Amino acid sequence: MAGGGFVAQDGGANYEGRVTAFVICTCLIAATGGLLFGYDLGISGGVTSMEPFLKKFFPSVLEEQNDAAKHESEYCKFDSELLTLFTSSLYLAALIASFFASVVTRIFGRKISMFVGGLAFLIGSILNGIAMNVALLIIGRLFLGVGVGFANQSVPVYLSEMAPAKIRGALNIGFQMAITIGILAAGLINYGTAKIEGGWGWRVSLALAAVPAIAMTVGSFILPDTPNSILERGHTEKARRMLQKIRGTQHVDAEFQDLVDASEAAKKVDHPWSNILKPRYRPQLVLCILIPFFQQLTGINVIMFYAPVLFKTLGFGDDASLMSAVISGTVNVVATVVSIYSVDRFGRRILFLEGGIQMIISQIAVGVMIAMKFGVNGDGDLSRTDANVLLFLICAYVAAFAWSWGPLGWLVPSEICPLEIRSAGQAINVAVNMIFTFAIAQVFLAMLCHMKFGLFFFFAGFAIIMTIFIHFFLPETKNIPIEEMNRVWKQHWFWGKYIPDEVVIGGNRKAEHRDA
Ligand code: BGC
Repeated sequence: MAGGGFVAQDGGANYEGRVTAFVICTCLIAATGGLLFGYDLGISGGVTSMEPFLKKFFPSVLEEQNDAAKHESEYCKFDSELLTLFTSSLYLAALIASFFASVVTRIFGRKISMFVGGLAFLIGSILNGIAMNVALLIIGRLFLGVGVGFANQSVPVYLSEMAPAKIRGALNIGFQMAITIGILAAGLINYGTAKIEGGWGWRVSLALAAVPAIAMTVGSFILPDTPNSILERGHTEKARRMLQKIRGTQHVDAEFQDLVDASEAAKKVDHPWSNILKPRYRPQLVLCILIPFFQQLTGINVIMFYAPVLFKTLGFGDDASLMSAVISGTVNVVATVVSIYSVDRFGRRILFLEGGIQMIISQIAVGVMIAMKFGVNGDGDLSRTDANVLLFLICAYVAAFAWSWGPLGWLVPSEICPLEIRSAGQAINVAVNMIFTFAIAQVFLAMLCHMKFGLFFFFAGFAIIMTIFIHFFLPETKNIPIEEMNRVWKQHWFWGKYIPDEVVIGGNRKAEHRDA
């Protein structure tokens, strides 16, 4: 096993090979998986604000919304658990599906998982488009959730495994880029379909989810599987040929040897689930739980799900509300490009820290401003200038998220886990993300009703905690080959003590096999 050892000692980043057109194309196709998730995130807020939709499926909600006497204050205008359940049910399904996806991803490969995800999503979009009653609507949402669970479990792992270490961040963020494009596209589509005469525009919005579904289903046919996954399933020569193809060189011995070592270590492990609980995987376990938790506790989905509702609550008009949502959606897409550019140059930590600080400042400013201008009962008035300043602050917050926690929340968990726990780690990441996406979607309107402007201080508080956490507990992972990550943990002031000396490549990976 000397090959792995020697390569690792000189940093491993010296693997031969170039960035091939082949790898870029496969990663772009795979990244479209993010469209599924993004389209969902963006579509439901708009659909649930369409009257014909509410009239058909949730008439009581509509009645209540229109009856001002029933609200405690303006902050409570849209508070309805039933309605939020429509939005959030999908994330519960995704949460459960991600565990099945982890098994499929490991045993049958990344590409089969993507295929299953695309297909489930397609079925969901058809059911939703033709839904005649609430039951069908919810069943459709559950299928969509299964699609999201499978896609989010497999795509980030696929991207991180295909990519050469030096541009792994940028390629992986293709996934987040697709999420943001999906959200924006959904917002624009809602804007258009809301105007369709006859009140069936919501059907078009929901059925158009078929477009990203078809893209991913077809894409998964064309895509090759990753060398890591081919090897994991025992096809050594095929894996080598694939690595040669994606790196554009015959000389892949060093990198291939590391993949073989990682795969052998993985084979000794029968139960990735009990394995990830061992002390030596403590850093990965903790981060695969805390990163998605913190990502959702930034409060981003308050904006993504409810921007139009939030702006309406604050007294923006109908059109202004939708337009503001489109503006913040555009900022989300554009700011993601910043992270693609910086993540492999300046690293993950600096983006997390800068983004965190910017979110803290803008959230506190939003809270103060709403408190001062809009008042405790929400009966104050926002002038035009106030409204513009508020929109600016919200965009500053969205931009900060979009170049930090947004992309890194998917990138970091997918790159820190060694092969033997990678599928399990990613399933935990998706599951925790979905639980808290669900929770925020479910309780936000109630929180806004009860905590009022204090809600923004609540999220700012979390932003402070997560920024401090990153400062102390997240080592830099840029440019480190994915199968050599142990080195990083070993050198860390806190996590180092959990990592046995032998598992660091450059020591002897065989020792790891012995006691795995
Ligand atoms: C998060 C989503 C969020 C989106 C916004 C993603 O990384 O997981 O919850 O809505 O970013 O762009």
